[in-house]
Amino acid sequence: MTAPISLPPVIAIDGPSASGKGTVAQRVAQALGFYYLDSGALYRLVAVAARQAGVAWSDEAALAPIAAALDVRFEGDEIYLNQSVVTDIVRSEEASLGASTVAVWPAVRAGLLARQKAFRITPGLVADGRDMASVVFPDAKLKIFLTAAADTRAERRYKQLIAKGMDANMTALLQDIRARDERDSQRSAAPLQKTDDAILLDTTHLSIDAAVEAVLGRYKAVTQV
Ligand code: DC
Repeated sequence: MTAPISLPPVIAIDGPSASGKGTVAQRVAQALGFYYLDSGALYRLVAVAARQAGVAWSDEAALAPIAAALDVRFEGDEIYLNQSVVTDIVRSEEASLGASTVAVWPAVRAGLLARQKAFRITPGLVADGRDMASVVFPDAKLKIFLTAAADTRAERRYKQLIAKGMDANMTALLQDIRARDERDSQRSAAPLQKTDDAILLDTTHLSIDAAVEAVLGRYKAVTQV
């Protein structure tokens, strides 16, 4: 009998918009020497690529091949689409809205699935998104549901945008965050949800450092048993 092939370990970090999961996931990946998957960036890229191709975010049939054939490269902090840098466009509020809109379509989600799974490389992966624990990596070694109160998240996003020299309005940001929470958690395809086996980490009153420590501590605990 041959032994089953064991896949590299995955830490799945899911949660709502602007919960800090991206920063926490990146820091955890760095600490462990793991790869990092920002799955939200893929949905953002589909929205940006669709815009560039003149395809409406409501057109599921036309979006599916765009998702499946995205010509994307992540290089350090830069994101390239069709060989051009799109980092700032991908992080814009417009792309946030587009990502959340195209993400409702099952054909878009299916088109991105294999690409996400391909990030699972030795020695391991930290993946952040909405359905990392439920759909993409259901066998993740550790599942974290990272959240924070909506107004705390709006304030964090506000500070990020201002720090980048971009325009920001707190009231509009809070409204956008609530609308995205609603869309991401109410859709029928892979909605944002905490799986039963995920650990809830509320960062409303927690610093990034403390959240990173909490995840690393949990990971240590599950890998030592
Ligand atoms: O994590 P983010 O804010 O960059 O994600 C942008 C949008 O993409 C989010 O509103 C919903 C969608 N998304 C998703 O549906 N599934 C994922 N795994 C990641 C993001």
